[in-house]
Amino acid sequence: MFSNLRISLESFRSYKSLNMEFPFGVVCLHGKNGIGKTNLLEALSLLSPGRGMRKVASNSVFQNNSANTPWRAQIEFITDSGPLRIMTTANAASNRREIYLNDVLLKKHSDIADLMSLNWITPTMDKLFSEGKTARRRFFDRITFSIFPKYADHIISYEKAMRERQYLLAENRYSSSSWCDCLESLMAENAIAIAEYRMRAISLIESEIRNCVNGFPKATFSLTGEFENLIKENFCQKAKESFIEMLKTSRSTDSGKSGAKAGIHKTLFSVTHENGQEASLCSTGEQKAILVSIILAVTIVSKKMEKDAITMLLIDEVAAHLDDDKRERLFDELISMKISVWLTGTDAGIFSSMLGRAHVVDLEKVL
Ligand SMILES: Nc1ncnc2c1ncn2[C@@H]1O[C@H](COP(=O)(O)OP(=O)(O)OP(=O)(O)O)[C@@H](O)[C@H]1O
Ligand SMILES: [Mg+2]
Repeated sequence: MFSNLRISLESFRSYKSLNMEFPFGVVCLHGKNGIGKTNLLEALSLLSPGRGMRKVASNSVFQNNSANTPWRAQIEFITDSGPLRIMTTANAASNRREIYLNDVLLKKHSDIADLMSLNWITPTMDKLFSEGKTARRRFFDRITFSIFPKYADHIISYEKAMRERQYLLAENRYSSSSWCDCLESLMAENAIAIAEYRMRAISLIESEIRNCVNGFPKATFSLTGEFENLIKENFCQKAKESFIEMLKTSRSTDSGKSGAKAGIHKTLFSVTHENGQEASLCSTGEQKAILVSIILAVTIVSKKMEKDAITMLLIDEVAAHLDDDKRERLFDELISMKISVWLTGTDAGIFSSMLGRAHVVDLEKVL
């Protein structure tokens, strides 16, 4: 828990320089198109591992077009035990993103997850349920990681082993290679751990959606695929052996592919609305409500799991696709969660019911 936080941005997108202090709780930022609302939230999202809420592929896009100094974004939490500073920038030589904790460079970005849990909802995520299955699985991976930070290590190890296996298969160097056996065993070991984390995450999220998130659909999840069928039939040791066998027998067919034919990287993640409709068939507003209920549940679970960590939730364009009733219910939920929440909107009017219970900022007046 912290009392206040200070945001400092330098040469970050539209901000040549910004230094602002905000209280703990719900912060509502409003202002006209292009003022810098999403840029501010994006800077906060970069204080967690990954590419941030805009999923930017190259760090150079953060560099302010007309500034010569390198971009950096910093947040300083004022806590009872002193300040906690998280800073991110790009390495001048490699252009890789770096994260510093109290001025010390983190070796692994995912280490920040023990200190801070950060989730977001953006207007582009409204397409999540009608988009391809890869985007949905990535979303599910991200929320599982948000609950179980160790999950990321298993995903990284699984993908690395799969890439190395593909290399052997492509080079046709697998027939007598015990290295290929080793990589398949590594994939299977991590796949079992990943499946367990995923199932635990689903059970926690569904339970939170049922019991704690008020006014939003009680969505349910399902995970399907060849690997999931294996898990259903057998468990742990047996499933691991069956998966290794499956990989072994598919070596020749996998050799022309970019990844194995089956595995946790092929899992189909689907969501069903409480009215029984598969999320991809729901209306845009219903899909948004499902997304909100999932992210609220994930945020509540993360807060319960990591009691000492700072929990933050960013919602860009909070009014998009939510009717007035849903929006007001969301505001009530957010206030009751007692976490750090950041909301944006173009119209000051949408935040009128927040006056007195949140920190409402007119960016046109302060920038
Ligand atoms: N690298 C950059 N250098 C300078 N300006 C940039 C850079 N990247 C984006 N911008 C500008 O930042 C401005 C603010 O963008 P932002 O997305 O934060 O606006 P917004 O307040 O969220 O607007 P909207 O209400 O339309 O969503 C835009 O005018 C955009 O062109
Ligand atoms: Mg915006």
